[in-house]
Amino acid sequence: MKLNIKCAISDHEFGIIILYTVKSENYGIYTMAYEDVLFKSGMRQLASGVSLVASVDRGGRRYGLIATSVTSVCVSPPMLLVCVNKSASCYDAIKNSGAFCINFLGQSDSDIASQFGSPKYRDLRFGTGNWMAGKTGAPVLASALASFDCSVRQEMDMVSHSVFIGDVLEIHVKSEIEMPLIYHNGSYASINA
Ligand SMILES: Cc1cc2nc3c(=O)[nH]c(=O)nc-3n(C[C@H](O)[C@H](O)[C@H](O)COP(=O)(O)O)c2cc1C
Repeated sequence: MKLNIKCAISDHEFGIIILYTVKSENYGIYTMAYEDVLFKSGMRQLASGVSLVASVDRGGRRYGLIATSVTSVCVSPPMLLVCVNKSASCYDAIKNSGAFCINFLGQSDSDIASQFGSPKYRDLRFGTGNWMAGKTGAPVLASALASFDCSVRQEMDMVSHSVFIGDVLEIHVKSEIEMPLIYHNGSYASINA
């Protein structure tokens, strides 16, 4: 994702705040406070595995998004969590169906990652890859390194995002060995074995 950043100083009731005007290929032009820019700049230094979180609404329509905010919570019983922006098209499907599937992407899934990681490519989603329905009905990507079909145990409201904690009902692990897709400093990367 290309970012074009300009800086300005603005008078605010709490004092002077530094505003950055950000021009992004995916999200257009918006302003951010200095602390937000600094936070994002710090978080870009964290290398993460890439997950495709998918869900289905009651009418059978599938939704998905790319997420790096996935982590395991506990093993017994198996639980995972993901932080989902409430403005993401997948949010209502997860909330209303009470289910989602977390698919860990391998390096051969970088095209799929691009489609699900930007609103620009919403129309192309689910056109690429082999998809199955998991136990909950949520979409499972056959090429994923591992997939965890979950039912929502708890939703925690966190301002712009919700943290969904899921009980894992079904797990698929790919039998062939493939390196994971990694995201670091704004770009996809892979690990050289
Ligand atoms: C590498 C990467 C990681 C992301 N991680 C998250 C995340 O953890 N949670 C989230 O809500 N959005 C995350 N996003 C943003 C969504 O994938 C993106 O906004 C997507 O377009 C949302 O789906 P929608 O276009 O259908 O609304 C991430 C995007 C990328 C490229």
